[in-house]
Amino acid sequence: MSAGKKAIAEIEHGKLAPGEILKKFEDGALAVRVLGNPKVQELWDRIIHNRPNCTDVAESSGWKDFFKNGIFTFARNHYKKSTDFGDTHRFERGNFGHVARKMATYYDFKTKEMAYFPPELFNDDNEEARLSQETLKLAWDLAMEINQSSKLENDHDPSQYTVAVEFLKYPDSYQQYQDVLDHVIGGSSWKRIGMKLDYARSLGRGPFAIRFIRDLFAWCFYLPILRTIVNKLNSFFDKRPVDQLEEDRELIGPGHFDGARHLTLLASDRDVMRTDAFDGEKWHELALSTDNFLVFPGGVYNGSPAVKPTLHRYSIAKETPLVNVKSSNITMVLAIATREMFDVRANS
Ligand SMILES: [Fe+2]
Repeated sequence: MSAGKKAIAEIEHGKLAPGEILKKFEDGALAVRVLGNPKVQELWDRIIHNRPNCTDVAESSGWKDFFKNGIFTFARNHYKKSTDFGDTHRFERGNFGHVARKMATYYDFKTKEMAYFPPELFNDDNEEARLSQETLKLAWDLAMEINQSSKLENDHDPSQYTVAVEFLKYPDSYQQYQDVLDHVIGGSSWKRIGMKLDYARSLGRGPFAIRFIRDLFAWCFYLPILRTIVNKLNSFFDKRPVDQLEEDRELIGPGHFDGARHLTLLASDRDVMRTDAFDGEKWHELALSTDNFLVFPGGVYNGSPAVKPTLHRYSIAKETPLVNVKSSNITMVLAIATREMFDVRANS
């Protein structure tokens, strides 16, 4: 990144005119922090805390602490082997480390109501865990205000989009992360081998990322002589930057782009987790809070001459910081994608 360019730009929510966020991305910003809108904190409070003044509370205990539901309820909310909707847990060393609840919503211009998917989510005791129309509309309005600012004038049609509302719970400590990995693997040697192979598969680049060849690559990765050969070949295709992370942290999600999304909006309360973005030379921490959104472009910008998707990674501290008030290590994500993409994923 050249001198004078800001890795993380800022804009007041009141100045979100068409093209304003786009301009900052075109100027080389990896992410834009949108400041000064109390509605972001309100959305956080509604979804994460179920504050008593929010109508969701009257309907159910909402999404608060969904990850404390029993395993049978958790499995009930799992959606068709997908990690895009419902309740999901992903723990793979170096790749994933969170539980999540995910729902997609969009404004139905015919019924004038917020449509949402999946149609049902449950908490324990068969209690339906609904987000109210008011909460979904709040998420939608915030996302669309930010989205139109990432487009040029007259280039934003809200009927083309969906917003995924996601609640990600990360471990509260490195030890907790280790415990879950151990639990997932259990006493089974086969699971242990399976996890190792999954990890190796995720490292495949170029032809080694192609189905079946990727499996062969993963097996070779653990064979003494072949490992050196395939690693050398793989590094030839690896165009990602080297993940140079401090000794006292561990990657929980390696550098990646947010696939088929237009924009990712993040708010978070955290102390052991960190998100970084790469500018082509070095990593920059994306500091997050619960009262504003940090916004960055996703994979749909691939091929765009002026805006590049933001490469980002997640890491966890190996030492838990000694602080008086512990953070929840919860992240709220609003992910903006096309209706077309939603239809494909919801119907697959
Ligand atoms: Fe991501």
